[in-house]
Amino acid sequence: MAKILGIIGGGQLGMMLTEAAKKMPEHISQVIVLDPNQNCSASLVGANQIVGDFKDKDAIIELSKQVDIITYEIESGDSDVLKSVENNAEINPSPETLKTIQDKFLQKTFLQNNGIPVPEFIKVESIDEVKEGLKKYGYPALLKARRDAYDGKGNFKIDSENEIQKAYDYFKGQKLMLEKFVPFKMEVSVIASRNTKGQIKTYPLVENIHEKNILRETIAPARTSSEVSKKAEKIANNTMDVLKGAGVFGIEMFVTQDDQIVINEIAPRVHNSGHHTLQSSKTSQFEQHLRAILGLELGSTELIHNTIMYNILGNLGFEGEYKKIEFLQNNVFLKMYEKKISKPLRKLGHFNLVGNDNQTIDQLLDELSQIKDKMTVKSI
Ligand SMILES: Nc1ncnc2c1ncn2[C@@H]1O[C@H](COP(=O)(O)OP(=O)(O)O)[C@@H](O)[C@H]1O
Ligand SMILES: [Mg+2]
Repeated sequence: MAKILGIIGGGQLGMMLTEAAKKMPEHISQVIVLDPNQNCSASLVGANQIVGDFKDKDAIIELSKQVDIITYEIESGDSDVLKSVENNAEINPSPETLKTIQDKFLQKTFLQNNGIPVPEFIKVESIDEVKEGLKKYGYPALLKARRDAYDGKGNFKIDSENEIQKAYDYFKGQKLMLEKFVPFKMEVSVIASRNTKGQIKTYPLVENIHEKNILRETIAPARTSSEVSKKAEKIANNTMDVLKGAGVFGIEMFVTQDDQIVINEIAPRVHNSGHHTLQSSKTSQFEQHLRAILGLELGSTELIHNTIMYNILGNLGFEGEYKKIEFLQNNVFLKMYEKKISKPLRKLGHFNLVGNDNQTIDQLLDELSQIKDKMTVKSI
């Protein structure tokens, strides 16, 4: 029997999950999202919407009564509330997995305890503990909020002793951890999936380029040696094995100067660095996530085409309605998230530049440099 799917969050990830769900009518009959913004992206592609905050207990209870299975596009949900509605609906990834992952300190402790490489880190509960930690790690080091961080907003890089107080005050009473700085040579990620029956599949390693702490482009596959890619994919596999939750997970990693891999963080959901799979692979990460939480056989994760994903971000210094972006070229797949208002660096859409059979990543990067300037956001 087809199930009713509930998604906590109806932004672009919820939107693309909804679109994938619509292509599986034999398994999913309806999608209901919980999102605070009327006319959220997912609601514009056929999801029904409960308007409410992600953490609103009553709204989550209401959602759980209306659906058979709940998943999420954000990691900041209240895992205790989710746990309390498990009798109403199956929840994947499980509230326990969410609880571990959504706190960066618990997440890294869990990984470390399972022998999975992470940067050195400690919990810090006072400024004196920050100072102690810095004696050990030296400068720079990162002070990080343990929860609810995104786009670098939960990080403060401490470059010298003079910045300790400023860094500490920046977080105003949030729970914190301190992490050793990793002078990485590349940021990479693996989109990994595990279904409810324990089957695991990982997509090939991709390379991520950030600007102002926001993902700007993803290069699939990563420009690493096959040893490095294999090592990263193995670590992703091991992580899925110990983590046990069902769904797609975005595993962000650093490649160190001596080609070691350490995990930076895991997102318990589909991930921006997996958007290339919409065109590069037989199974998109969105379909894969649904297959995983429904307990279906996972789809192929083979990379069929070299692809670069480029994020379309709101311009700095501009907030308001913007002109529709259109672009016609048969190897460019543009996906806009139908957000009415542009804000500085807001993710408004992305496109995948898909290589043909013999196009190298360097050729694609050349092509990208010609295209990207035409994809800028302009006010109406
Ligand atoms: N230990 C570290 N060493 C060096 N750079 C780091 C470290 N931790 C984070 N960063 C940099 O900051 C970015 C954002 O950090 P991350 O912990 O992933 O936060 P967010 O939750 O905002 O994505 C990373 O993509 C990376 O570029
Ligand atoms: Mg990150």
